[in-house]
Amino acid sequence: MALIFVTRKIPEIGLRWMKEGGHEVVVSEKDGALSPDELKEMLSLRPYEGIVSLLTDHIDGSVLSFTPQLKIVANYAVGFNNIDVSALGQARVTVTNTPDVLTDTVAEYTVSLILSVVKRIPEADRFMRAKKYQGWSPELLLGSDLTGKTLGIVGAGRIGSAVAKRLSLGFGMQVNYYDINRSESLESEIGCHYYETPEDVLRTSDVVSLHVPLLPETKHFLSAERLAMMKPSAYLINTSRGGVIDEKALVEALKKGIIKGAGLDVFESEPKLARGLSKLENVVLTPHIASASEETRNKMSEMVAVNINEFFLGHIPPNIVSFQ
Ligand code: DGY
Repeated sequence: MALIFVTRKIPEIGLRWMKEGGHEVVVSEKDGALSPDELKEMLSLRPYEGIVSLLTDHIDGSVLSFTPQLKIVANYAVGFNNIDVSALGQARVTVTNTPDVLTDTVAEYTVSLILSVVKRIPEADRFMRAKKYQGWSPELLLGSDLTGKTLGIVGAGRIGSAVAKRLSLGFGMQVNYYDINRSESLESEIGCHYYETPEDVLRTSDVVSLHVPLLPETKHFLSAERLAMMKPSAYLINTSRGGVIDEKALVEALKKGIIKGAGLDVFESEPKLARGLSKLENVVLTPHIASASEETRNKMSEMVAVNINEFFLGHIPPNIVSFQ
C-alpha cells in the first residue's frame, strides 16, 4: 500500500505489523543515527509516503523537498521536539507519537535514578571496584532518606503524575507540584500540594524531578537563577529532555554546592555532555534509557505500526500529534 522509511532498526514486531498491513518497509542499514544529510539522501532514493523517525532525527520542513509525497511521520518516542510539527502541518503531513506505553517504565526509571543519586549507589559501586573498601565504617558514603521529605514535580502530566504516586504512596514523600494545568484528581489521590509557580516548587523541595516537554518556552527552564532557588541539600532529576536545563549552569551549581546532587538521563547536546559534568561524583549519568525496557520498546514499536497502518487505511491514527 505505502512505502515507509524507518530511519533506524526498531524492535521487529512493529516492522512485521507494518508489512502485514501491506506496506513496503525499508529500514536504514546504518548502525547508528542518520545525520541530517544522510537522512535526506536516503529519502531522495525512493518516493516514501511515511517515515518512522527516532528522537535523534531532525525532521523539519527541509526534508519535504526530498520527499514531496510524504504523508505521515510516526515518531518512535512520546517526545516530538525533534519534529517541526507546524512546518509539516503546512505541507499536510500528519505526525504521531507513542504516549502512555512508556509512562510506567519511565516512572520506574525516574524512581531508580532518584534512589541511585540519593543513596549514592553508583558511587559506592565505583568505590568497591576500586578496592577501596576497608571494612564497615559509621560514616562511609552517607546518603539521604526520602521518607518524610518533599518531592517537587515540575510537569504533572502522565509521567510526572506516575512518579508522584510512586514516591508518595511507596516512600511516604510529600509531593509539591507545578503544571500549567492543575490536577485535582492527583491532589485527591495522593494529597499533594499545587503551587502556582515552578519557583515555589523549586524552593520547597528536597528532590526536584522535571517532566516537561522541550519547547521554545521550556528551553533552559532550569537556569542558573532558578538553580539558585533550590535548597543546597536538594537533588535534581531529569528524565524529560536535556534542553530544559542549562547544563553549564548545572555543572557550576553541582561544583559549588548550590545543590547537592543530580540524576540525569538526558542531556542538552546528546550524546555530548557539558564540560566537567562527568568528572563530578555527585551526579549519576545514564544514556537516555528511561524507557528502555524490552516490554516498552516492543510496545512503542507496535504503536508506531498501528499509527502507520490506521493512517493508510484512511482512519485517524490513535496517537496524533497533528492530523492532516
Ligand atoms: C521518549 O519517548 O520521548 C523518550 O525520551 C524515549 O523513549
